[in-house]
Amino acid sequence: MQVVEVQTTTPPPPTPNVDGKEGYWMNIDDSDSPNKFIQYVDEASKQDQIIAHTRYSTRQLNLNFGQKVMDVGCGAGKDLSRLESMVESQGQVFGMDISREMVECAKSRMSHLPNVTVFCGDAASIPIENNYFDAIRCERLLQHVPSPDQVISEMVRVTKSGGRIVVTDVDWSSTTISIPKSIEKINRIILNEVIFNAHPTIGIQLKGRMKKNPQIENIELFAQCLYTDSLNMADEFLWLGERGKMAVSQGLISEEEYNLWRETIEQMEEEGSFVFTMNIFTVSGSKK
Ligand SMILES: C[S@@+](CC[C@H](N)C(=O)[O-])C[C@H]1O[C@@H](n2cnc3c(N)ncnc32)[C@H](O)[C@@H]1O
Repeated sequence: MQVVEVQTTTPPPPTPNVDGKEGYWMNIDDSDSPNKFIQYVDEASKQDQIIAHTRYSTRQLNLNFGQKVMDVGCGAGKDLSRLESMVESQGQVFGMDISREMVECAKSRMSHLPNVTVFCGDAASIPIENNYFDAIRCERLLQHVPSPDQVISEMVRVTKSGGRIVVTDVDWSSTTISIPKSIEKINRIILNEVIFNAHPTIGIQLKGRMKKNPQIENIELFAQCLYTDSLNMADEFLWLGERGKMAVSQGLISEEEYNLWRETIEQMEEEGSFVFTMNIFTVSGSKK
C-alpha cells in the first residue's frame, strides 16, 4: 500500500503544552516556558510502558562495543546514557535536537560521559556526512516534523550500509476510553477528529513510510498498548482533557457536549471504571 503524504504550506497545527496554552514541539525555544516541555519528556521517561518500549527499540539497534549511534530529536537526553552503555567507552553517541533548551539540558546531564556529544540541528537536514553511523533512532519525533519521509531519508543517508534505522511513534487516533453509549459520538469526535499535531496517526503509518524508502530492508514492526486507569494520568500525559477542550475551540463539539463528556468520564473515574488505551509502534530496518 502506498502512503500518500499531504503537503501543507501552513505550519503544523499547535500542540498543547502542559499549561494548556498552545505551543509547538517543533519550536520549544520560543514558548513561554521551555522547562514545561523538559518536565513533560522527563515524566514520560518514568512511565513503565515507555521504558519497556524504549528497551525494545534500543535493542533493535543491534549495537556493539565501539560503534557510532545517533538519537535524532533526543529531547532532554532520556536515552543517551542507555545508548552509551551499549557502545561503551570506545563507542560514540550523538544526540541532536532542534531545541537549544533541550540540547543544553541533555548536554549538562551527559557531561560525565565524554563519548556523548549533544548538538542542535534539524532532523530534516542532519549536518553529518553520508554513511557515518552504525545505527540511528528517533522516538516520538516524527509526529512533530513537517515531512516525516524527509527525516527518514536523512536518517538513512547518514547510516552505513548494513546499519540499523529504528523509529518509534504513537498513533493518537488509536486512543480508546471506556465510555457509555450516550457519549459515544462526542467521544469519537474528540479522539479522532481534533487536529492535534502535525501527524497524529504517524505510528500506524511508520511501516508504510519505512517500506517506501528504497534503501531500507528487513523491516520489522512492533506495537504495544499504552494504557492507564487514571484520568489524571490521561489528562497530564496523554492530553485527554486538552483534546476535549480543543474539540470545542476547533468548533467540532459544543461546550455543553464537552461538559457532558467530561462529567461522564469524571464519574467513571470516581466509580473506578475509567480505562484509557493508545498504541505505540516501533519499526526497524537495515540500510541496504
Ligand atoms: C516528544 S519530544 C521526544 C524527545 C525524546 N526523543 C524522548 O523520547 O524523550 C520531541 C522532540 O523532538 C524535537 N524536535 C522537533 N522537531 C525537530 C526537528 N525538526 N529536528 C530535531 N528535533 C526536533 C523537539 O525539540 C523535542 O525535543
